[in-house]
Amino acid sequence: MNFDGSQVVIGRGAQAEVLRYHGYAYKVYKPTYPAEWIAFEKDQQTAVNQAGLCSVRYYDTDDEHIIKMDLIEGEELEKKVREGFLEGFDILAGAFRKVHEASVKGVLMPHLMDTAGMGLSMEETEEIFPIITRLCDTYPSCICHLDMHFLNIMLPRDGSEYQIIDWMNARIAPAVFDYARTHVIFDEFAKEAVDFYMKAVAADIAALGITDEDFHDAVKVCAVLRKKEKGE
Ligand SMILES: Nc1ncnc2c1ncn2[C@@H]1O[C@H](COP(=O)(O)OP(=O)(O)O)[C@@H](O)[C@H]1O
Ligand SMILES: [Mg+2]
Repeated sequence: MNFDGSQVVIGRGAQAEVLRYHGYAYKVYKPTYPAEWIAFEKDQQTAVNQAGLCSVRYYDTDDEHIIKMDLIEGEELEKKVREGFLEGFDILAGAFRKVHEASVKGVLMPHLMDTAGMGLSMEETEEIFPIITRLCDTYPSCICHLDMHFLNIMLPRDGSEYQIIDWMNARIAPAVFDYARTHVIFDEFAKEAVDFYMKAVAADIAALGITDEDFHDAVKVCAVLRKKEKGE
């Protein structure tokens, strides 16, 4: 597809640029990014649309590296938090609850157990699989976003409810992994926010019966997976 020059960059990730163009958002991936992963992201979006967790629809274009999306007119929660909007942490906590409380019935999304091992060394597998197995046996599984942070929560300008975006990493898994993954992300990008984060989600983690030890074990798993993701 060809853009006519009126497109504006509105977002940027590691693998893609997001453009506003004629009333839609377009996610334009680097040509080196595997097309199968983009197809997978579209399937994930369909699953969360059906689960009622995000109303942004994805559409095919004539380029398999470009996804057309419904446009959210608004801003990332990140921007408001940077301006001192500490209620952002409560929105984050609410976003987790919303995702975890959704029904998994009929949701076509892989289970963490089935994908976590991809690309891991024998040593890494031996380190994290016993933990994943134990936690999956201990706690019920739900939808987990697994990349929940302020850049993936948008606040629409029209005042309607926040939208959780970027569902590529979402899996069926115990909620402890979702909370742990975000802990790893804050620890990496905004250490000063870790305490605010833990304070905001502590009651919900406790209400799920998650022990400190299990939380820390899940953090260990997520740290290994995150390292792999970054190619380290
Ligand atoms: N549908 C959309 N409408 C408006 N902005 C969007 C939309 N999707 C993504 N964005 C913007 O682009 C950024 C990157 O998009 P995202 O899907 O999170 O990609 P990445 O996987 O690279 O993080 C978001 O943080 C947001 O600012
Ligand atoms: Mg993102």
